[in-house]
Amino acid sequence: MGRSSPGLQAAGHPASLGTSAWAWRRTHPRGGATFPGPAPALCQARSRSRSNSRLDNMAHDRPSCTLEPEHVQRLLLSSREAKKSAYCPYSHFPVGAALLTGNGLIFSGCNVENACYSLGICAERTAIHKAISEGHKDFRAIAISSDLQDDFISPCGACRQVMREFGTDWAVYMTKADGSYVVRTVQELLPASFGPEDLQKMAEQVPQPGRAWVPTRV
Ligand code: THU
Repeated sequence: MGRSSPGLQAAGHPASLGTSAWAWRRTHPRGGATFPGPAPALCQARSRSRSNSRLDNMAHDRPSCTLEPEHVQRLLLSSREAKKSAYCPYSHFPVGAALLTGNGLIFSGCNVENACYSLGICAERTAIHKAISEGHKDFRAIAISSDLQDDFISPCGACRQVMREFGTDWAVYMTKADGSYVVRTVQELLPASFGPEDLQKMAEQVPQPGRAWVPTRV
């Protein structure tokens, strides 16, 4: 994070950019009403939602700003457009995601379910896998959209782990249906995580012959 913002280009969902009349809205800092217009980069909506109060409380003390406001908007719009392609005949819970790469590409994805329920995949992982399969693994941000009106859509544990594979210091924008959002880093969403660096530590560990692992009684 903290890199200069390149121009954004659509990847995989080109028709989505600039075509939606849907206006992103953020919650007004004083009155709580929403208004159309660009949401400030990495600034959080102060939602009055009770069911997501943990996220809402966290939203008040976040100073970090990395993406340009127009890039945030564009990313959020792409995730909302991607939601239209959701294949979710079992859950009836459409989700869209839009992933911004370090070089300014946007890969979008939706959830894709299956009659064999466990084979379904979330929107976030669809977007990530699309990007990876096209040779991109440097990610700046991901936006997630659902039809939830009173809650910010929050990525599942599996998606958090897949995000974490590609770094901990990038942004996750979680939206409500009205376009308000909260943003967290992957690190915040998955603290004390296990990642590729941990596997590397094992390879670097000095072998100690004869020293077996003994369980510690606590
Ligand atoms: N889902 C996502 O795609 N992303 C999320 O962040 C939460 C859940 C999908 C998975 C499944 O298709 C449906 O929503 C209900 O869980």
